[in-house]
Amino acid sequence: MEIVSDKNTLISLLNKNRSSVRGLIPTMGNLHKGHLDLVYKSTLDCAYTVVTIFVNPLQFGPNEDFHKYPRTIEEDIATLKESNVDLLFAPSVNEMYGEDKEEQVIVAVTRLSEILCGKNRPGHFDGVTTVVAKLLNLISPTYAYFGQKDWQQLALVKTMVDQLDMQTKIVGIKTTREKDGLAISSRNQYLTKEERSIAPLLKAELDNISIRLRNGETDYEVVETESKSNLSRVGFDVDYIAIRDSHRLCTPDEETKSLRILAAAYLGRTRLIDNIGF
Ligand code: PAJ
Repeated sequence: MEIVSDKNTLISLLNKNRSSVRGLIPTMGNLHKGHLDLVYKSTLDCAYTVVTIFVNPLQFGPNEDFHKYPRTIEEDIATLKESNVDLLFAPSVNEMYGEDKEEQVIVAVTRLSEILCGKNRPGHFDGVTTVVAKLLNLISPTYAYFGQKDWQQLALVKTMVDQLDMQTKIVGIKTTREKDGLAISSRNQYLTKEERSIAPLLKAELDNISIRLRNGETDYEVVETESKSNLSRVGFDVDYIAIRDSHRLCTPDEETKSLRILAAAYLGRTRLIDNIGF
């Protein structure tokens, strides 16, 4: 596996492999089984797999965990070496964005970036789409793999690629979970023992909503409100719980073909997100 931290070396290495089907998995590192399932899919589909590790300051709010975000590059390198990855790109913030620039180009997907997780994390998704656009431009992958765990992020990236006529195909991979249902996330390690024991109830509540919908309930607002109080009762501080159109993430309307049930909630200071299809 080649390990590269500067853009010029990255581009010249990629030019040598111009003709192979190329897969990209963008990450912020601290790799876990969820990330590795994306990597595995790429190694099945593609002759050449690129992973990026970059804790992107642009997508963290001023009171968020940018400085605290777990950085485990040595362990990550060892894991990727065993996973048939061809190239790891792990740039510094300076390499990625340059010195303080007077002008900063931001790639923003309007509306989709402002709802759900975007409401309480202003600027977060603009940071995500900007860095993903840069990575897609630098690496020109045939396929780029994203987790369904971050459903809104996946929807935003698909919209960006579609509307900016980017040539990469975006592939969504289903959420990897712990045995008790908790979606695997780098942030789970922030949970105390007690919080960790409560955490699986988030997915359980999404399943509960799914059962209620299957049983014919159609008043989504009532279902959302009751679920919110179920979660509050067991100790979550709920940001949102929402039944939405899978693709547009708006409240379901006559054009809706499938639903997605999405939630974000804090346990202590840790923000958990999850979603399931319906
Ligand atoms: P990160 O949180 O490191 O996640 C990298 C990729 O792994 C994302 O596509 C995410 O959805 C996926 N992923 C994380 N946990 C998963 C799980 N349990 N099951 C399946 N996939 C999972 O998401 C980001 O980084 C950043 O926003 C990034 C896209 C890299 C831009 O900075």
